Amino acid sequence: MRVMVTGGAGFIGSAFVHRLAIRTDLTALTVLDKLTYAGNLANLADFADDPRYRFVHGDINDVDLVDQLAKDADCIVNFAAESHVDRSIEAADAFVTTDVHGVFTLLEAARRHSISRFVQVSTDEVYGDVVTGSSREGDALRPRSPYAASKAGGDLLALAYHTTHGVPVIVTRGSNTYGPRQYPEKVIPLFITNAIDGELLPLYGDGQQVRDWLHVDDHCAGVEAVLVQGSPGETYNIAGGASLTNLELTHQLLRLTDRPVSLVRHVTDRLAHDRRYSLDASKLMSLGWAPRVSLEDGLVSTVAWYQDNEDWWRPIKSGAFRDYYRRQYADRLAGGRAPQ
Ligand code: NAD
Ligand code: DAU
Repeated sequence: MRVMVTGGAGFIGSAFVHRLAIRTDLTALTVLDKLTYAGNLANLADFADDPRYRFVHGDINDVDLVDQLAKDADCIVNFAAESHVDRSIEAADAFVTTDVHGVFTLLEAARRHSISRFVQVSTDEVYGDVVTGSSREGDALRPRSPYAASKAGGDLLALAYHTTHGVPVIVTRGSNTYGPRQYPEKVIPLFITNAIDGELLPLYGDGQQVRDWLHVDDHCAGVEAVLVQGSPGETYNIAGGASLTNLELTHQLLRLTDRPVSLVRHVTDRLAHDRRYSLDASKLMSLGWAPRVSLEDGLVSTVAWYQDNEDWWRPIKSGAFRDYYRRQYADRLAGGRAPQ
């Protein structure tokens, strides 16, 4: 099996590359990544000497490059995306370019070549706010942020290429993912690293928003199950099955880092902040997949990873991330409210 993984230098993509590399039927593994602020070659350092592996620095919107790489692949798994909701609220153009048009470029290449599986990695955010119950794959898509809307565009375009052109597309919709090597703009690594440094934790609004947390290894196992056993044209939800409010999550992280609750600041809420996501993953479970990492164990090991790998995140937090943090949080923290 020759696989092209796009966005493989990011958080989930690099974990997926680690997972694929232990498959005995893997003969070639090409990672195509633009190395945006979120891409990090250190995440792929383990493969430098693997003869099956090659890294290509490039954009999924580069038609010629994608065409040339697709010629030599049996499968494409697309993780490449702009992935952070708050950045999509600041400026959405890169989201439309990569998360919609980039998917189009990959699909056109898949159509021209004999790609046997095209997995488009999508997200539970495409279903929008879920007040009660859990989203199933056939539910209407009601994305509410520019990020979620651009992901929904890529997701639906991929399915349309199956219906119209017979491209063997499979879509996954995963829930909030956490684990090692996640860029510290996302809530779990941001709060862990702030807590390690004794800095304030900016909790949006009342902190009563509910997310379903999925360990990155379980997310990757779900994508692998779909790649190997999924049916073209189908969509599969991937859920961790561990729901809690952001406030509860924050308290767990403070307990694990041995820091006081007084570090929490309730700050101005995210615009159009979805109150709750919840997925029904029974369709994927019928293929034999199930989440293996409990949230409790996953948070313990994730906190330990950030404690043990400061050389991975300190350069990020003291580099370009500082400007982003200032833009997003300086005013919010100044007007923030301490817990009562
Ligand atoms: P990430 O931001 O950590 O990584 C994205 C990667 O894509 C980076 O390596 C980046 O350099 C690369 N990239 C961005 N634009 C590119 C382009 N135009 N061409 C080539 N490469 C490009 O993201 P992540 O958290 O690992 O998410 C991976 C995928 O999973 C995304 O599609 C995301 O929407 C989806 N997803 C993420 C979560 C989550 O909680 N993190 C949950 C469900 C689904
Ligand atoms: O649900 C899947 C999605 O999960 C993925 O598609 C996205 O790529 C990924 O970024 C993630 O989106 P979220 O917006 O849910 O993740 P984030 O870590 O940004 O925020 C999680 C929750 O924490 C959300 O309710 C907002 C809140 N939050 C976030 C940050 C960064 C805070 O309260 N404070 C913060 O500083």
